Amino acid sequence: MDVMTAIVTRRSEKIRTEPAPGDEEFRYLLRGAAAAPDHGRLLPWRWMLVRGEARAAVARAVAPTGSRAVEKRPNSLPEPLLRALLVFAPVPGHRVPGGEQLAASCSMTHALMMLLHARGDGSVWRTGQLCTSPGLRVLLPMAEGERLLGSLDIGTSPEGLRQRRPLPDISHRVSDVEALTGVRPAHGLREAVGAE
Ligand SMILES: Cc1cc2nc3c(=O)[nH]c(=O)nc-3n(C[C@H](O)[C@H](O)[C@H](O)COP(=O)(O)O)c2cc1C
Repeated sequence: MDVMTAIVTRRSEKIRTEPAPGDEEFRYLLRGAAAAPDHGRLLPWRWMLVRGEARAAVARAVAPTGSRAVEKRPNSLPEPLLRALLVFAPVPGHRVPGGEQLAASCSMTHALMMLLHARGDGSVWRTGQLCTSPGLRVLLPMAEGERLLGSLDIGTSPEGLRQRRPLPDISHRVSDVEALTGVRPAHGLREAVGAE
């Protein structure tokens, strides 16, 4: 699959089936995804893999027993697939600002989603309660300054490769500085240095 096809056919997969990638395979794909742009090469993130019984424990911590979410969908939580929790672990006080470290973490995550997709796995990045749950914060070992950016729920994509979808209209998302300002940067530079 070429890169453009991979990018335009990826979808957030709501329905996921077994098998999910094993630990070794996940690590293999992550080594590739970690090559994403990352100012300072800080790798300011880590993943916690949740499988089997731990899935139910995480689900309970996010929505404790007795909560409306669990009562409404009692059987929907321990799905038999891989839930990978993304922990943002910025390097404190580094010259690379936290926002850039966050951008690097998102770049890595998108690269990982693309690599999963290219091998036939579906994934969806989920946030919501997971990121703010005090119960999950108690359950999971996290250092001060770390925070959850969500989870990737991963499994085999049941529908296989989807059709290309219409691409978004980006016509107003690109502009040309020369056209916007009337200034030709190269010309201005020549004038500034007194060149002809
Ligand atoms: C940072 C982030 C958080 C997201 N959180 C959720 C979520 O909590 N629940 C969900 O169903 N989808 C979530 N998504 C998936 C988006 O809703 C999805 O990417 C969007 O609807 C576009 O669909 P597509 O991925 O199939 O193109 C999230 C995506 C991103 C990038």
